[in-house]
Amino acid sequence: MDQASVTRRYQFASMHRLHTDLLSEEDNWKVFGKCNNPNGHGHNYVLFVTARGPIDPETGRAVDADALDRIVQDTVVSRFDHQDLNRDPAFARQTTTGENLIRLIWDLLVAKLPAGQLEKVGLIETRDNYFEYAGPILRQGQDQAEAVRAVRAEVEKVG
Ligand code: NI
Repeated sequence: MDQASVTRRYQFASMHRLHTDLLSEEDNWKVFGKCNNPNGHGHNYVLFVTARGPIDPETGRAVDADALDRIVQDTVVSRFDHQDLNRDPAFARQTTTGENLIRLIWDLLVAKLPAGQLEKVGLIETRDNYFEYAGPILRQGQDQAEAVRAVRAEVEKVG
């Protein structure tokens, strides 16, 4: 059956500060610049969630957009909107970069959506910053869940 991809757009506003205790104050400033400002700063994030599925011959639809919206709202938007990302437990040991945030959003959504439906997530942070993630790169014979566990184990090791 023919497959099609559907992308939905969402928004949330959050504050954060780019900082890691693994680096000195000077090095934090060198790496993150003004994003390391102790008072933090905010972004109006725009999130794109791309889901795929077989085109239903009767309805002509590939994805239940209402169901997708509910999951994204409950899992991502309500969790981060008007929050300080640095206080989210998922960021206790990771910096709140766009890369880490988009990977976390993938992990949260892939656990809730029907298997194989999530194709890609994209995140606009500023006018000039866009992040994208499409899941961990699979080794031969490895399935998605296995790959996610492997990546998480690596992250844990780094601490
Ligand atoms: Ni920022």
